[in-house]
Amino acid sequence: MNIENIIEKPSLYQKGSSFMWTDPYISKQLLQIHLNPDIDLASRKKPSIEKTVKWILGNWEKNRKLTILDLGCGPGWYTELFANNGHSVTGVDISKNSIDYATQSAKEKELNIHYRNANYLDIDLGEEKFDLVVLIYADLGVVLPIEREKLLVNIFKALKKGGIFIFDVLNDKGFEEKLSPKTWEASKIGFWKATPYLALSESFLYEKEKVILSQHTIIDESDNVDTYRFWTHFFSKDDISRMLKNRYFKNIEFREDILPEGDMWNGKNVIFTKCEK
Ligand SMILES: C[S@@+](CC[C@H](N)C(=O)[O-])C[C@H]1O[C@@H](n2cnc3c(N)ncnc32)[C@H](O)[C@@H]1O
Repeated sequence: MNIENIIEKPSLYQKGSSFMWTDPYISKQLLQIHLNPDIDLASRKKPSIEKTVKWILGNWEKNRKLTILDLGCGPGWYTELFANNGHSVTGVDISKNSIDYATQSAKEKELNIHYRNANYLDIDLGEEKFDLVVLIYADLGVVLPIEREKLLVNIFKALKKGGIFIFDVLNDKGFEEKLSPKTWEASKIGFWKATPYLALSESFLYEKEKVILSQHTIIDESDNVDTYRFWTHFFSKDDISRMLKNRYFKNIEFREDILPEGDMWNGKNVIFTKCEK
C-alpha cells in the first residue's frame, strides 16, 4: 500500500481509481438511498421533488405536451412525475441498477418513458428533439469543467429552438468553509463493500477553482485500495451566466425558493437555473 498517496493532497482533477455509480455492489446501496423518500441523499425528499416538478412544468401552458430529457434520472422520481402529466419522457442514467428499477416501475405504471442506460458525457443526445432538458441534484457541478463544456454543447444541440434547460448547482457562499472533517470507519459490511473494510475520508479545498474534493480511500483485508474522488464545484450567479452565455443559452433566470427551507439542500446553498436555446 502506498501511504503517501493517502496523505498527499491530490493535484486538481487527479483521477481516483474507482467509479462509484457503476460499481455493482455500491450501486445497489445507492438505489436504496434514492428510493428512501424521507432522506435528502442521492435523491431529494419527495415533497422537494414534487415542488421542483410543479415549478418546472409551470413554465408551459397546462395542456401543452412536451418532449423531456432527464439526464442522470436515477430510479425515475422526476421522469415519472413528468410522464404522469402526459409528457413524453426520456431518462438517461449510467447506473444499470437504477435504470432496471425505473424501467420496471414505468412498465407497471404504464408510463410513457424511454430509459437509456448510458453515460451522458459520451452519448449522442440527438438534435432539436426536446422542449425541456433537466439535470437535477447539482450534477452539472460534479463533472469536470472540460466535460461540462461538452455536455452543455450537447444539451444545446438536443433542445428544440426555444427549448428550456433547467439544472441546479451549489452556490459559492462560504464554500471555503464546507470542508468535511477527516474521518475513518471500520466495517464488516457497509456502504462501500460487502466484506470488511477500512474507509478513510478526507476533503481538500482548491480555492481558486472553487472546488472541493471529497476523497474516500477504501482498504480491504487483502490491502486492496480503492480511491473514490468527487469534485464539487461551487458557482456564483455570474459564473453560471458566463458559462451559459459562452454556449449561446439566453433568458437565464435563477431561483432560490424552490426547495423547502428545512431540507439539507435549500435556497441557502442551491441555485436553480432556467435558460433557453
Ligand atoms: C445525485 S444522483 C441524482 C439523481 C436524480 N437526478 C435525482 O435527483 O433523483 C446522480 C445520478 O446521476 C447518475 N450519473 C452520474 N454520472 C453520470 C453520467 N456520466 N452519465 C449518466 N448518469 C450519470 C447517477 O447514476 C445518479 O443516478
